[in-house]
Amino acid sequence: MKILVINGPNLNMLGIREPDIYGKSTYADLCRFITDYAAQKGIEVKLFQSNHEGALVDEIQAAYQKFDGIVINPAAYTHTSVAILDAVKSVGIPTVEVHISAVETREDFRQVSYIRQACIKTITGLGFDGYLRAIDILIENGK
Ligand code: DQA
Repeated sequence: MKILVINGPNLNMLGIREPDIYGKSTYADLCRFITDYAAQKGIEVKLFQSNHEGALVDEIQAAYQKFDGIVINPAAYTHTSVAILDAVKSVGIPTVEVHISAVETREDFRQVSYIRQACIKTITGLGFDGYLRAIDILIENGK
């Protein structure tokens, strides 16, 4: 099984940005955490991060017929991007939306998620563990 893990804008700043909300661990820590788990589960994982909406769309399109699942934290683009929603719909790959923070308890503008309607599940507020839960869901879904 091949899973693509996509992180959107400013998630490369984990460990530096608002540590009270996102924690003190870095993006490199997150990558290690995910790759170790994938190895343990015997699945293949690719990690991708970009601050650019079009680059995220390109990566989703490139996954067509190549990946069995997508874990995506679109970060701020969650709340604005029809293009990312359409990309996920276009490729038809089972996708799980992840947020490190509990977005539902935050500002009003974070209550909208464009991508959610194309996802089999949304996980919020579990910190880095949310990515592992998303992988579990995709493995279950692929059985
Ligand atoms: C986030 C929540 C978003 O609202 C925010 O813009 C992010 C990160 C999260 O992981 O909690 O950049 O997606």
